[in-house]
Amino acid sequence: MLISSRTLAEYRAMFELTDADLAGAILDCAAGGSSFVAELGDRAEAVATDPAYERPVEELARVLRSDRSQCVKMTVDHGNEFVWDWYGTPERRDQLRQEAAERFLADRAARPERYRPASLPELPFADDAFDLVLCSHLLFTWAGPLDRAWHAAAITELIRVSRGEVRLYPLVHRGAGDPVPFLGELAEEVRAAGHRWTERAVDFRFQRRAGVMAVITK
Ligand SMILES: C[S@@+](CC[C@H](N)C(=O)[O-])C[C@H]1O[C@@H](n2cnc3c(N)ncnc32)[C@H](O)[C@@H]1O
Repeated sequence: MLISSRTLAEYRAMFELTDADLAGAILDCAAGGSSFVAELGDRAEAVATDPAYERPVEELARVLRSDRSQCVKMTVDHGNEFVWDWYGTPERRDQLRQEAAERFLADRAARPERYRPASLPELPFADDAFDLVLCSHLLFTWAGPLDRAWHAAAITELIRVSRGEVRLYPLVHRGAGDPVPFLGELAEEVRAAGHRWTERAVDFRFQRRAGVMAVITK
């Protein structure tokens, strides 16, 4: 699986984050090389988690700095399914990726305690540990290799460690952005467990069919 590196600006747009949202204890789950935690610095008690943090630092740095032609190829192969008005150009997107990766690598070296290796559906955090739990580009993006049962268990775990909200983006497959057939059933299961599941349109635009995030309120 691709380990990508998005910036705080992308997270703000994907998850419609306000300054108030960014004030508490926040978990960036499946954070990869994202600079979300790094850019927040001491403004929030933010923690990143990802199985890739088990890897030696040099190896992860090599992966994050490596050629991204596969990513570019995906946007070319599915040209009609991507829009560029948020990023502007492919070059600008790549520049953000590189900036995020470098910020992530520097912050991880400076504040290693903020970066915890872990793999859904089991996280090493207490119940209700975070005000806000974010998960970008893992759930639904990789539906296929990760099946319905995995998604159900992962969502249960994200809710367990949250005392406020869980936000998930996007809600479609990677590439062409095909819908995920079991999305509605999972939303019903979350509601049946006593939580609120709402879907909100977001301003972030890249995959044409990915204009919505899920907000689970515990
Ligand atoms: C496409 S990247 C997204 C990274 C970051 N959230 C972003 O938006 O740039 C997907 C990430 O999910 C991580 N991942 C894969 N399996 C996982 C699991 N079972 N639990 C948590 N993260 C996982 C990968 O290591 C990878 O960093």
